[in-house]
Amino acid sequence: MMQAGAGGLPSVVLRAADGSATATVHQHGATLTSWAVSGAEKEEEEELLFVSPLAVFAPPKAIRGGAPVCWPQFGSLGPLKAQHGFARNMEWTIDEVAGDSCSLVLCSDAVTRAEWPHDFKLTMQVSLLPNGALKQSLRVLNTGDSPFEFTTALHTYFRVSDVSKASVVGLKGLSYFDNAAGSLATDDADAVTFTGEVDRAYIGAPSPLKLVDSGRGAVVMVHKEGFQDAVVWNPWEAKAAGMADLGPEHWRGFVCVEATQARSGAVTLAPGQDWEGRLRLERDTLGES
Ligand code: BG6
Repeated sequence: MMQAGAGGLPSVVLRAADGSATATVHQHGATLTSWAVSGAEKEEEEELLFVSPLAVFAPPKAIRGGAPVCWPQFGSLGPLKAQHGFARNMEWTIDEVAGDSCSLVLCSDAVTRAEWPHDFKLTMQVSLLPNGALKQSLRVLNTGDSPFEFTTALHTYFRVSDVSKASVVGLKGLSYFDNAAGSLATDDADAVTFTGEVDRAYIGAPSPLKLVDSGRGAVVMVHKEGFQDAVVWNPWEAKAAGMADLGPEHWRGFVCVEATQARSGAVTLAPGQDWEGRLRLERDTLGES
């Protein structure tokens, strides 16, 4: 169903066939802005994603929260000046909408060619699965006549009760580039916890990753395919205060666990070739996963 979503921008609302979840996808950036599950014992839906209360819904500005699509560049890893590329700033076209799934496309045009001289078709598909799970897939097709390279991410902001009660499990023993420190490091902790700014780009991250919120007894399992890397990010107070659409108040309410393809290397696509990255998110309960 199409409707005016947060900020008055057009969005698609999905409902799982078994009634276990709803999701909202904004046309702007094909940004997933809500994923809410209704458990058997819960009377109200539980929102699992974070959108900043100060998010600015004024295209081309990217929405601060949900799951912006970083493409054709993740961070500064590529030739573009714009951090995280332009896909999150563009109006995508809604291709198909069924009750529990939708797909949106973004094709190269004069605007994208001015920033990045290649022809492409991106397809973002979002589907709700049984038991509240959500699937996203990003397909990249080279529609031009020369090869191109890209880096990418689904930059998902997960809502947490308080960042100090959150942890991310599954990254022990991996090398990461510490964006905050500007150097490489190795993770030897059982879980990533948050006592200050965390901005880590893990190289070759396994699947699934587990986000634990001990404050509300919630777990989100992040299953990824195609995306070889992962980023864990929370800006902490000082950096958040410097971001007008986040501010000094709201940074405790989220952790980004991002499925990325960047530090392990860019993807190269020959003309006519495609690549797909997939994410499956599942809400679990602490002690049951
Ligand atoms: C993360 C990066 O992926 O995105 C951080 O690792 C960055 O360094 C963050 O600050 C947010 O980026 P932006 O462009 O949305 O402010």
